[in-house]
Amino acid sequence: MSEKVNVAIIGVGTVGGGACEVLCKNTDIIAIRSTKINIKAICDLDLVKARAVSDKSGLKDVIITKNWQDIVNDPEVDIVVETIGGTGVAKEIIVSAINNKKSVVSANKDLMARDGGELLALAAQNKVDLFFEASVAGGIPIIQAMKESLAGNDVKQIMGIVNGTTNYILTKMTETGADFNEALADAQRLGYAEADPTNDIEGYDAARKMAILASIAFNVRVRNDMVPVEGITKIDSWDIAYAKEFGYVMKMLGVATSDSDGVEVRVNPVMIPAEHPLASVKDSFNAVYVDSYPLGQAMFYGRGAGSLPTASAVVGDVINATRNITNNSRGRWGCTCALTKRMKTLEESISKYYLRVAVHDRSGVFASLTSALAKHNISLESVMQRRSIGDGEAVIVIVTHKVSHASMLLAAETVRALDTVLRIESLIRVED
Ligand code: NDP
Ligand code: HSE
Repeated sequence: MSEKVNVAIIGVGTVGGGACEVLCKNTDIIAIRSTKINIKAICDLDLVKARAVSDKSGLKDVIITKNWQDIVNDPEVDIVVETIGGTGVAKEIIVSAINNKKSVVSANKDLMARDGGELLALAAQNKVDLFFEASVAGGIPIIQAMKESLAGNDVKQIMGIVNGTTNYILTKMTETGADFNEALADAQRLGYAEADPTNDIEGYDAARKMAILASIAFNVRVRNDMVPVEGITKIDSWDIAYAKEFGYVMKMLGVATSDSDGVEVRVNPVMIPAEHPLASVKDSFNAVYVDSYPLGQAMFYGRGAGSLPTASAVVGDVINATRNITNNSRGRWGCTCALTKRMKTLEESISKYYLRVAVHDRSGVFASLTSALAKHNISLESVMQRRSIGDGEAVIVIVTHKVSHASMLLAAETVRALDTVLRIESLIRVED
């Protein structure tokens, strides 16, 4: 067994800086549990930041560079941590490190959701590890759990609250009555949302995480561009209030399901029953709910982002990679996407729907609506409400029974065309 393993961190911002701190602070317990891990080098475009991270962590004799090639070409570096993000230079770094026979730990969901298959194949070819626990749900150990602890399970469904920003926004809208823009501004002020929050609020960030999770759960390669997304920008405080009245909570959910017909993965705002375990996941917390045989239902909950929680996942991966180096077992688990399954279209997906319609405030409106829906074989599950909103307008709110997305869209067109209807204000899925 080697006496120590050398690690280099490329990108010491929020996550990489946190990983450096944790590796230094917990160095003794890590050495007991695996092998002494030495941070040999850190790399960042900003050398002042790199020096500050090094000083804060009390590192001595560490190489500090702004040139990532210095790291991937250093024969003494065993493990490269890539925490710069993005799909350009990050990919070059990972490919070069793997080709130089170094194990790699990455937090990069953008890259893994797009090129995970290619990179894992390269790692297998070079008999090194490529670990990416932090790429999904930050500090929550879900990838390792699915790859190892649940390896004997047949996963039927995963539902995830995997974006902290949108969960925070929806929680604030639900609990304080804030509107979307107020809640978003709050999320930005608290540092949850980026200055440009598009990836969070439009669902792209969650889609990347769900693509990674679905690939692992169903042994089928799912890329982020295969995941239909719908953001939360159109959700307003009325939807949140009606959800409450119906006994639901609004969540931004990633849903991945596999059955004999194929695999379905999507990200969208949904109403879930208030008693569902995911309904109690609040603020910027994340949770992944897994339904599998033989385990049954299980929920993994925790911090999905932030420096130290995410560093926890990165450091766990570094320790795993270290163990594999010292035990000569690198490449123990790589890509498991051995199956080819049909990806179902969004139109095929089946849900209940919540429909909020603005109508002329007069008699017979309700009957026209129900008969329009009945034309598409859509029956109503629950309560309809009628609220007068002035100027001869009223609002009707409906929850349907289960129906395909395609049928629901057609039915919405029929409803929209009714002369009793002014507009459809919301159409939101309801999950049981
Ligand atoms: P940051 O922007 O905080 O850190 C990235 C760092 O990398 C910056 O210091 C940046 O330098 C540096 N960098 C960029 N390009 C290079 C390069 N070519 N060579 C060397 N250094 C470079 O990002 P985060 O730490 O937030 O994110 C890192 C990764 O972790 C991303 O893939 C992200 O998706 C993922 N992640 C982040 C989470 C979070 O909570 N922040 C949670 C889970 C995953 P400079 O400052 O000069 O730009
Ligand atoms: N922007 C992400 C979120 C950060 O809000 O969850 C972690 O990926």
